[in-house]
Amino acid sequence: MENGIRLDYNNMMYENIGLKGIYGGDIANIRPDMEKAHFNLNEKRKNGSLEWMDIIYDQEEEINEILETASGIRQWADTFVVLGIGGSALGPAAVHHALKHPYYNELPKEKRDGWPKFYVVDNVDPERLSGLLDIIDIKTTVFNCITKSGNTIETMSQFMIVKDILEKELGKEDAKKHIICTTDKTNGALIKIAEKEGYKTFFIPSKVGGRFSELSPVGLLPAACGGIDIKELIKGAVSMDKYMAENGVMENPAYMYAALSCLALEKGRNISVIMPYADSLKLVADWYSQLWAESLGKKYDINGKQKNIGQTPVRALGATDQHSQMQLFVEGPDDKIIVIIGLDKYKREITIPVDSDVDDLGFLRGATHNNMISIEQMSAEYALLKAGKVNMTITLPEVNEYYLGQLIYMFEVATAFAGELLNINAFDQPGVEEGKNAAYAMFGRKGYEAKKAELDAKPHKDKKYII
Ligand code: PA5
Repeated sequence: MENGIRLDYNNMMYENIGLKGIYGGDIANIRPDMEKAHFNLNEKRKNGSLEWMDIIYDQEEEINEILETASGIRQWADTFVVLGIGGSALGPAAVHHALKHPYYNELPKEKRDGWPKFYVVDNVDPERLSGLLDIIDIKTTVFNCITKSGNTIETMSQFMIVKDILEKELGKEDAKKHIICTTDKTNGALIKIAEKEGYKTFFIPSKVGGRFSELSPVGLLPAACGGIDIKELIKGAVSMDKYMAENGVMENPAYMYAALSCLALEKGRNISVIMPYADSLKLVADWYSQLWAESLGKKYDINGKQKNIGQTPVRALGATDQHSQMQLFVEGPDDKIIVIIGLDKYKREITIPVDSDVDDLGFLRGATHNNMISIEQMSAEYALLKAGKVNMTITLPEVNEYYLGQLIYMFEVATAFAGELLNINAFDQPGVEEGKNAAYAMFGRKGYEAKKAELDAKPHKDKKYII
C-alpha cells in the first residue's frame, strides 16, 4: 500500500518458486471463500462482535485519560512494570521493544526523556519476579496489572505479591498510587479489588479478547508510559483499516496474507515461520505467534466437526537465524511458510571503516550494517526461492508508531480472516481454558471439585516411563 507496509508474495507463487508454489488457479478457487469470509467479518463487525476493530475509532476519551495518567507518572516514577501474561503482556512488550532504544533500561533517565524504565513480568517463574524486585525501588515504581478476565492466576498472584509488599512498605494509602488496573468493567476478581481499594482503573471493552487487545488500554497505557505516540499508533491502524475498506479482497494485504497462509496449509505447510530482519521487531514475532497459534489452533470447526487444525508459528530473527534455523528452512521438509519482515530504513546507521586493514575483507570497507542486513535478507530470500520453499515478505518503510499500528492491525485482521477461511472460531481458546481449569482444580479452588475428581481419576504418570 502507498505510504504504508507492503506485502510481497512473489515467492509464494508457482511462476517464481516452481511446482511447490501456489497457482493462480488456487487463488481463483479460494476467491469465493474470501468473498464469503469478507462478508461474514463485515456482518460480525456490524453486529458489534468485532469490537477490537471498532476501538481504533472510538477511544478518544480513554486516550486522553491515558496520556494524562502517563504524564503524571513521568513526574515521579522511575520504573513501570506490567503484571500480566499472554495477550495482556506480549503486546505491551512488543510495542515498547519495537519503538524504544534496544538498551532502554540501561539508559540514564534524561536519555529516556524522563520516562520510567519498563519491565513486563509475564511469568510465574519465582526467579523472575524476585529478581525484578531485587533491582527496582518500589517507592518509585508503578505496577500496571492487566487482565481481561480479572482472574488469571499468574497475573493475580503477581498482583497479590506486589500489593502486599507495597502495603507493608508504604502503607495501604500510599500503595494506591503505585497500582493501576486494566481489566473488564464488571467481571473478575481484579475489578472487585480495584473498586474496594480505590485503584486507578482502565477498562478493556467487553468484547475485546486478550490477544486482540493491544490497541486498547491494555497496550496504550504501557506504551504511553514509555513516551510512545499512541495517537500515531492508532492512526496507523486506522489507515490500514481504511485502505482495506477502499480496496477489494484481492488487494487487501491482511486477506491475502491469510488466504496464502491457508492455501499453504492445505498443501502441508503446517508451520508459519515469522522472521523479522530487525531486532526491534523480535517481540512482535512473539506477539504474532500467540495471536496466530491461539486463534487458529482449534479442535473443532464452527459446526462442531473435529478438525484439529492450525499452523504452528515459529519465531526466527534475521540475520541471526541465518546461522541457525535457516539450514532447516532451506533444506528441511516442505512443511513451512516463511514470512520475512524487512525494513526500508533502520533508525540508526553504522559503517564499517574504510581504512580498515583487514585485506581479505576489503569488500566490506565502507559498507554499513544497514546494507549488510538488507543483503542478508535478500540472500536468504534467494536461498529459499532456489530451494523451492514458499516465502513472503512484509516490508515496513521504517519502525515507527504509524507503521507498527498498521502491522499490528493487519495481523489481527489476517488472523480473524484466516479463522473465517478455516471455518473455526478464532476468538475462543478452549485449550487454554482447560489448562486454567486444571490449575484451579489442583489448587483446590471452590467450584472446581468435579475437575479435581476428573484429574484424580486419571493418573497419567507411570514410574516405568521415567528414567
Ligand atoms: O488471548 C487470550 O485470550 C489469552 O492469551 C489471554 O490474554 C491470557 O490467557 C491472559 O488472560 P487475561 O487477560 O484474562 O488475564
